[in-house]
Amino acid sequence: MKILVAYASKTGTTAKCAKMLAGYLAGADLVDLTKKTPILDKYDLIIIGASIRMGYIHKTAGIFINEHQQQLLSKKIGFFFCNGFSEDMDELIEDNLPDEVAKKAIVIDSFGGELVIEKQKGIDRYVAKMIAKKADEQKAPLPRIYTERIKQFAVKLLA
Ligand SMILES: Cc1cc2nc3c(=O)[nH]c(=O)nc-3n(C[C@H](O)[C@H](O)[C@H](O)COP(=O)(O)O)c2cc1C
Repeated sequence: MKILVAYASKTGTTAKCAKMLAGYLAGADLVDLTKKTPILDKYDLIIIGASIRMGYIHKTAGIFINEHQQQLLSKKIGFFFCNGFSEDMDELIEDNLPDEVAKKAIVIDSFGGELVIEKQKGIDRYVAKMIAKKADEQKAPLPRIYTERIKQFAVKLLA
């Protein structure tokens, strides 16, 4: 089975998670959607990962999914999000994936996220600082990557 793990990341977390996931999927091709548009024909299983900002997935991933909807519907598919806070997966799915595509997916999950202020630019840095300050005030933990979910995701895909 030919496998593709394609991802779009802004500050590296989704890229890191995509690499981890590909490590569990022997022979999988890893493609950064912000650098290359993969040809989907040759793949049997396609996983798309995207980071979330302000409730929405990385623009490049959103465009790719919309433009390749029909092809994706003819394949085995899975999606993962990298996000720091919202655990409301139903809302994230509804706002970011076409209905049919979401229904066809074998698995959709969040792998958690990271908040690295130094990596943010412009308004993102400002928002990230506010989020970190609020978390500190509320003694809430900062986001982290759920590595165990990445392994489980791969297991579900290959079952
Ligand atoms: C400006 C900004 C907005 C964010 N918005 C959300 C959000 O709406 N929901 C959420 O769960 N996480 C949000 N996050 C957390 C990111 O999803 C998290 O930092 C993620 O690891 C980023 O992945 P990336 O490095 O691949 O871009 C936001 C982070 C920043 C800096």
